[in-house]
Amino acid sequence: MDDDQIRSLVDSRNGTVKPAIYSDAQLYELELERVFGRTWLFLAHESQIPKPGDFFNTFMGEDPVLVVRQKDGSVQVMMNQCRHRGMKLCHADSGNTKAFTCPYHGWAYQVDGALQSVPLEKEAYRGKLDKSKWGLIKAPRVESYKGLIFANWDESAPDLVTYLGDMAWYLDGFLDRREGGTEVVGGVHKWMIDCNWKFAAEQFCSDQYHAPYTHASAIQVLAPTPQNKPDGSPLGDGQTERPAWANGLGGVQFAGKGHGSAFFFTENADANVWVGGEVSAYFRETYPEAEARLGKVRALRLAGHNTMFPTLSWLNGTQTLRVWHPRGPGRIEVWVFCIADKAAPPEVKEALKKSHARAFGPAGFLEQDDSENWIEVQKVLRGHKARQTDFCMQMGLGFEERREDGIPGITNGTFAETAARGFYQRWVDLMTGKSWNEIEAAGAAWEQEVIDA
Ligand code: FES
Ligand SMILES: [Fe+2]
Repeated sequence: MDDDQIRSLVDSRNGTVKPAIYSDAQLYELELERVFGRTWLFLAHESQIPKPGDFFNTFMGEDPVLVVRQKDGSVQVMMNQCRHRGMKLCHADSGNTKAFTCPYHGWAYQVDGALQSVPLEKEAYRGKLDKSKWGLIKAPRVESYKGLIFANWDESAPDLVTYLGDMAWYLDGFLDRREGGTEVVGGVHKWMIDCNWKFAAEQFCSDQYHAPYTHASAIQVLAPTPQNKPDGSPLGDGQTERPAWANGLGGVQFAGKGHGSAFFFTENADANVWVGGEVSAYFRETYPEAEARLGKVRALRLAGHNTMFPTLSWLNGTQTLRVWHPRGPGRIEVWVFCIADKAAPPEVKEALKKSHARAFGPAGFLEQDDSENWIEVQKVLRGHKARQTDFCMQMGLGFEERREDGIPGITNGTFAETAARGFYQRWVDLMTGKSWNEIEAAGAAWEQEVIDA
């Protein structure tokens, strides 16, 4: 598929996409190279590999990589692929080691990726193997942002903070509420969903519109429900307060550099009905610290969904952070982490873990609602005719604005598809092989155009 054909698949100015972007095998191969080979990909949380020799086994796109803490405290990211015949070197999910030894013929690598020893080296290679040339392939760029470790294969990519742009402001609201930062609580939930990675990433980027309908049954169970006032005192007898978003009240959608977020304003920490109990009480108690660090708007932003392009998503309140690892055009492997403030007491971390799993674990009531949609759309796309249509992505077209209340970036009302349009524009810019300078310029031009429209 050439660049003109790729450009014809997305019209971010008029709000249409062609379904081939979710189903075409050739495009998927190109994505592995041009999206997953060039963007900053989340790999692990610092708290998962605190000591030298600690490692976490994960993926960049479909490429298996090891994230390894070095003796000097730095982090290196290397292909989990033996240089001899390509065997997967390490099969453990995580752990601590002095070396990685290949299970096929026994080549052993130091934690910095250098090839350390080769069985029968003298007899088999007769002194002719230059071990210094056969170390593990390393990601040239590794950076952390407030506890999250990312890597990038592309030496020409902008640094991580530039890549994040205004998204850093939103990410801070998740990671920087309290002194000491965050940590991962419990293990990583992993499961497969039969859908294209962009359905999941785009929904978390942009789609608040699905919530009142897709999650209607969960809303009926959980709200209206007796709630507390912002100061924690109970509402009067029989008084109830529905969550702001269920009432369709005002909120904000943000779009920038392919990233996106949508959230509602509420002065009531309990308005995020998915959490409740000890978790709500904790957010209420720690609100003053969060406000002092982040300001009122971000401190109050307890409910909202977010995607950092391409595949890192998170939800405030339920504290779920997830990566949509691509597994072919019609499949993803979902990896889900529960994130808690390090300073939270153990019983709060335990409560967070439970409320997180209840809503967004593999059998979570909201998780199930969401993935059902993506699976069904993907199934429909097996049809020939189904793949010839245009999808409508026009919500809120022309109503984008820049706010003056400190919320950065291009914004719209919560029920909009601005962030989806920005997400697919960034996808096209990457997929047509532009340089990073061209990509950043195209992103800025897109932002100006949607504001001027
Ligand atoms: S494939 Fe690893 S030692 Fe042969
Ligand atoms: Fe949802």
